[in-house]
Amino acid sequence: MKLAVLRGGKSAEREVSLRSGEQVARALRGRGHDVTPVDLDARTWDVLRDGRFECVFNALHGRLGEDGTVQGMLELLGLPYTGSGVLASALCMDKARAGKILAAIGLHVPEFEELEMTHGVAAEVVERLVSRFGLPLVVKPVREGSTIGLTIAKDADAVASGLVLAGRYDRRVLVQRFASGTEITIGVLATPEMQVLPTLEIVSENPLYDYDAKYTAGKSHHIIPARIPEAARTAASETAARAFSELGCSGMARVDIIVDAAGTPWVLEVNTVPGLTELSLLPDAARAAGIAFDELCQRLVDHAVGRHDRHVGPPAL
Ligand SMILES: Nc1ncnc2c1ncn2[C@@H]1O[C@H](COP(=O)(O)OP(=O)(O)O)[C@@H](O)[C@H]1O
Ligand SMILES: [Mg+2]
Repeated sequence: MKLAVLRGGKSAEREVSLRSGEQVARALRGRGHDVTPVDLDARTWDVLRDGRFECVFNALHGRLGEDGTVQGMLELLGLPYTGSGVLASALCMDKARAGKILAAIGLHVPEFEELEMTHGVAAEVVERLVSRFGLPLVVKPVREGSTIGLTIAKDADAVASGLVLAGRYDRRVLVQRFASGTEITIGVLATPEMQVLPTLEIVSENPLYDYDAKYTAGKSHHIIPARIPEAARTAASETAARAFSELGCSGMARVDIIVDAAGTPWVLEVNTVPGLTELSLLPDAARAAGIAFDELCQRLVDHAVGRHDRHVGPPAL
């Protein structure tokens, strides 16, 4: 097949996406496809329209890539593309709106509040947040990834500076109760039949599972399955599957969860284009389930093409 792999882009996760795209492209070439890497820029519309591609593999992370915008472009172009559609992509990028939906269907989401960072941070606001959520509390941009702009604030000063930092990435900032427990992530595939991948526990050398821990070799370890009781693994897997379907995801997603001492799975977020290097979390969990990286990429392409063929709706431009 003639395939395009979309990568790079302008988000804060550009570097990660370049790596994901490179490895996806290599894997798909290994399966005999004719693969063109496309670094997202202003010419991408023309490149994709004129390229006679049979499918687009989307390896873009973050804003303008994972958030429904690129999916909208691909819908207009009438090209099959991997992963979730416009709505689920946009929803999952928005931690506040996704969190509200997940809480409304009865899943456990650490209590949170959204703030609009238009002015500076008033001392009363900080005081109110501290008394509502306790310390430490978490401050993060509503629409960002890779732990960028995130602070775990241990005192009022850190809350104030955390709000300013998060506000640099997104005017909409989320303040959240700190969930303590075992950090796990669960990959879900739906190509189209749903397969919940084994629980993967993340052990970080850094106190926080931050950008450095995520992308520096040796700074975090994956343990499959997670070292939590069987019942907690089941509960977390059911939570991941429900989050995936209720948010309307398609193809793949990875659900970040903290499992507390009582075994309750607290959902942090759903990633619709998770890291896709061979060593990334979802590919690692897929491998543990017997799905090699190239097979994973192939499945996502096959699903995208099948979904497009079954599409009912207005014709593309
Ligand atoms: N409410 C929370 N309680 C405890 N740790 C959190 C919380 N929110 C985020 N974290 C930590 O920060 C990391 C990144 O947060 P997450 O919500 O997954 O955003 P993203 O990965 O998109 O930056 C998590 O993997 C976790 O280590
Ligand atoms: Mg995350």
